[in-house]
Formats: sequence, C-alpha cells, structure tokens
Amino acid sequence: MSDFIHDSWGYFISAIALGGIAWCVWLLYSQRRWLQSKPAPGTPVQSTGHVWDGDLTELNNPVPRWWTWMYLLLCVFALGYLVLMPGLGTNPGLLAFTSADAIAREQAAQAQAVQPVYARYASMTPQQIARDPKAQEIGVRLFLNTCAQCHGSDAKGAPNFPNLADNDWLGEGTPEYIAQTIEQGRHGVMPAWKGVIDPKNAAEIAAYVRSMSKLAADPVQVVFGKAGYENYCAACHGIDGQGNRALGAPNLSDGIWLNSTSQDAIVRTILEGRDNRMPAFGQVLTPDQIRVLSAWVWGLSNTASQ
Ligand code: HEC
Ligand code: HEC
Repeated sequence: MSDFIHDSWGYFISAIALGGIAWCVWLLYSQRRWLQSKPAPGTPVQSTGHVWDGDLTELNNPVPRWWTWMYLLLCVFALGYLVLMPGLGTNPGLLAFTSADAIAREQAAQAQAVQPVYARYASMTPQQIARDPKAQEIGVRLFLNTCAQCHGSDAKGAPNFPNLADNDWLGEGTPEYIAQTIEQGRHGVMPAWKGVIDPKNAAEIAAYVRSMSKLAADPVQVVFGKAGYENYCAACHGIDGQGNRALGAPNLSDGIWLNSTSQDAIVRTILEGRDNRMPAFGQVLTPDQIRVLSAWVWGLSNTASQ
C-alpha cells in the first residue's frame, strides 16, 4: 500500500465506505412498500410481466420485513465498526487497533508459551543439550526451517555452503563459535590477485594447491607454483595448506572443499578472490533457539558421548 501515501486517499476511501452504506439505506427506503400494512389476503399481486415456460410468472412482492431489518442492522453494524476500528482512511478508530500490534501480542504470547520448553536447557551445557532427545527434535525443526535451504536438509552443504556435519570447520567449530555464526552471520573474504599474479603463475599456483590435496596436477607447474604459493597464499592458508581458523581461511590440504576442486575453479578463486556470505539470524531466532540449534549443529559431527 506504499503507493497510497497521500492524505487524499483517506478521504477517497472514507467517501466510498460511507457512500456505500448511505446508498444501501437509500435503496431500502426507495423500496419502502414494506412499510405499508400487509395487503388483505386475496388481493391480487402485481406482476412484473415476466413469464417463462408458459406459466412461470415473476411477481412483484415486497421484500420480507425480516430481510429489510437485517439489512438495516447490518448498516448500523457497519457504522459502529467504522467508529471503533480503522476503516475511514487514516482515522485509527476508537479502539486504535493495528495488525502490527496484534502480531506483536501474538509473538509475545508465543514466546511466553515456549519459554518453559527452553527453560530446562538454561542450566545444561551445549554438550548435554546436543544429547537431549527433546532438544534434538527442536534443533532439527529449527534447522529445516532456517538453515536447510543453504546447508541442505542433511546439513551436508553444497558448493560454497559448508558441510556442517563433517567436523571440518572454517572457524573454531565449538558450540560457542557456531552460536556466534548463527547470530552474526559470516563473511568469508579472500582478496583477488588479478593484476598481482599473472594467469600463467595463477595456473602454476593452482596446480601446487591441487598437489597439496593429492589431486592430479602437472608436475612442472607444481614446481613453479610453490614459490608463488609461499609468497601470496601461505600467510592465510598456512605454509603446508593447513588453513587458519582465525581468518576463516580453509585448509587446502585436507581434501574437503567449499568449492570445486577443478584447476579452472582454483585459478578463478586466485584471480577473482572470494566473497561468501552467510546472513545473520540474531533477529530471526531468539537466544534460546540459537543455543539449542548451535548445540544440535555441533552434535552432528561430535557424536562421541562426552
Ligand atoms: C543464505 C544461505 C545460508 C543460510 C540460510 C544459512 N547459512 Fe550458514 N553459511 C552460509 C555460507 C555461505 C557460509 C560460509 C561463509 C563463509 O564462507 O565464511 C555459512 C557458514 C556457516 C557456518 C560456519 C561453518 C564453518 O565451517 O565454520 C555455520 C556453523 C553455519 N553456517 C550454520 C548455519 C545455521 C545453523 C543456519 C541456520 C540458522 C545457517 N547457517 C543458515 C550460508 C547460509
Ligand atoms: C587474506 C587471506 C587470504 C589469502 C592471502 C589467500 N586466501 Fe584463499 N581464502 C581465504 C579465505 C578467507 C577463503 C574462504 C572464502 C570463503 O569463505 O568462501 C579462501 C578460500 C580459498 C580457496 C577455496 C577453498 C575451498 O575449499 O573451496 C582456495 C582454493 C584458495 N583460497 C586459494 C588461495 C590461493 C592459491 C591463494 C594465494 C594466491 C590464497 N588463497 C590467498 C583467505 C585468503
């Protein structure tokens, strides 16, 4: 309705609403034969002159009284409604009802209703929550509703969306880290090296990266790529490709990839960099929900009983 922001729309809508009611009342009045006393039995009824199927005649009887009264009452109800509720343009009505307030009230009631469900987890550690059957049910539901579209319904991820069930993490992988990721989101940034590294050298570095993961790579390129890797990449990804969790730089030697392992894809990553974002859910989920969900995600890959 953002198109209807000018005040005059309020008057226009009020005119239609009140005009509609006035028109109904006028229509009833114009057909006021019902006000007259009932005709004596046997008085011939006026015909409209319409006849179908030989003898089916449309008579011009007045509308029944109960029907007319019902109509009048509906008009009174409509006027009362417009006085109490926001129906006349921008007039808020005597009750000042808004659907935004109604939703806020419902949400508050809902939060209060589920509060006892989460209360029992307040004194439990994330490790205990992860093993609690009831919390697992809640966790899987929250995950399917808010996370599965990116991380997959089995939490095993997809290209660019990390697998959350393999105990291989960009960051720390603790329940606290997972909770913080859910609350604040994540932004994985790798700088682009276009202009610094030429495409030939990028291909050599890519071959070297593939060799760290024991993937097939041209041995000559691998030899030439090593120096470039140590120069440009080791600061973040580690001299042996072991990664750096504080920077979110993935391990390049463990055979677990966010993205494609192809030579071309790695060259593209080197030249164009990466910008991978997970949105923040701090406004969508309550702190209680984040606590249970993060414990559940942690429990996916930390399956040994603690
Ligand atoms: C819109 C897509 C999207 C949604 C929805 C989403 N994520 Fe993510 N998530 C990502 C991306 C992309 C990354 C990788 C960010 C990066 O590269 O640093 C990520 C990373 C993560 C990580 C860090 C993984 C690691 O290896 O360190 C965790 C944990 C995580 N998500 C959990 C969740 C949970 C739990 C939810 C549901 C509340 C969720 N995500 C919803 C896109 C999403
Ligand atoms: C400033 C730190 C930094 C530097 C320097 C850096 N990277 Fe990265 N790199 C990252 C980060 C952070 C990510 C993860 C991006 C994401 O979350 O999607 C990444 C991702 C990657 C990936 C994707 C890994 C996967 O699992 O799909 C490859 C490949 C890669 N880097 C190779 C390199 C190479 C080769 C160099 C050197 C030319 C390099 N990086 C230099 C930070 C860095």
